[in-house]
Amino acid sequence: MKKTLITGATGSLGQLVVKNLLQNVETDKIAVLVRNTEKDIVKEYQSKGLDVRVADYNNLEKLQEAFKNIEQVYLISGSDLSARLEQHKNVVEAAKANTVKHIFYTSTVKKTESTDAPLAPVVNSHLKTEQTIIDSGLQYTILRHNLYSDVVPMFIGDKEQLLKTKSIYLPTEDGKVAYVPREDFADAEAKMLISPKEHINKIYEFNGNEKISYQQVSEILTKILGEEIAYVSPSVDEFEAQMKEVGLPTEIVGMLSMFSQGIANNEFDFDTTDLEKILGRKTKTMQQFLTEVYA
Ligand SMILES: NC(=O)c1ccc[n+]([C@@H]2O[C@H](COP(=O)([O-])OP(=O)(O)OC[C@H]3O[C@@H](n4cnc5c(N)ncnc54)[C@H](OP(=O)(O)O)[C@@H]3O)[C@@H](O)[C@H]2O)c1
Repeated sequence: MKKTLITGATGSLGQLVVKNLLQNVETDKIAVLVRNTEKDIVKEYQSKGLDVRVADYNNLEKLQEAFKNIEQVYLISGSDLSARLEQHKNVVEAAKANTVKHIFYTSTVKKTESTDAPLAPVVNSHLKTEQTIIDSGLQYTILRHNLYSDVVPMFIGDKEQLLKTKSIYLPTEDGKVAYVPREDFADAEAKMLISPKEHINKIYEFNGNEKISYQQVSEILTKILGEEIAYVSPSVDEFEAQMKEVGLPTEIVGMLSMFSQGIANNEFDFDTTDLEKILGRKTKTMQQFLTEVYA
């Protein structure tokens, strides 16, 4: 395997990809990009002998230094929606200026590309990044991710909250999502990094094997918790007003509302099985995932 740099290596997905790679390839084939060396996970990487490179996506010069002798970059999209297109352009620029031959990029599935769609800020920055990578002349593999199963607990709250409110309150109507746990993305994508040739210049749609609505999530949780958990889909205005009234920060309300509207518009309702083919198995079901989190 070529020397691969995993960006976002201090984050949830990045850590899982690094863990997966470490089980399957020599440590000296893996480098990690971090921006904050004070994090415990960075110390852990150092103690394992991983090649730790330090740069922020905002800093082109540092990225250029960090990419020396790297052949593949696994680019995890940045979390700052308004800044990330420019950040990703820096990563591509730094890759081009170095020995990098191949970029893997974690993008998003989408149905609507309209600039006034609820999810436009998310989708547009991903689409423009995809195009920047394709236009760069580097080999590319675009990994279009459906939503993480891991966002469900973030959207609906923990066990204590659910047992108190006995309801899921989100304006997702009857929209369905083909969720994938982060660990399944990490498993598949580590495999791809180990055998990159067959994935050169390909775009994949990575979806889970089952599509689930929040009505179904509430039915699964009713069984797991042994208490009736109702599903309520308010109007978007009612939802935003209610969330602000209970004191949720505006940014979080906006994020919940944006993704809920995307779900209601069926932006995540996909059937493709690219991921199952690469994994060689089906993705974890929502029943399994929620049992692990809530039982
Ligand atoms: N499909 C989905 O459902 C879904 C859900 C959530 C997020 N996402 C996207 O997928 C990405 C990975 O998800 P995750 O759960 O692993 O997110 P995460 O835990 O927040 O990790 C994000 C990683 O990116 C790094 N990063 C952010 N901005 C950076 C910058 N300017 N320069 C260098 N590194 C930077 C972070 O570094 P620090 O540790 O220093 O902050 C962290 O390592 C997210 O960033 C987001 O774009 C997708």
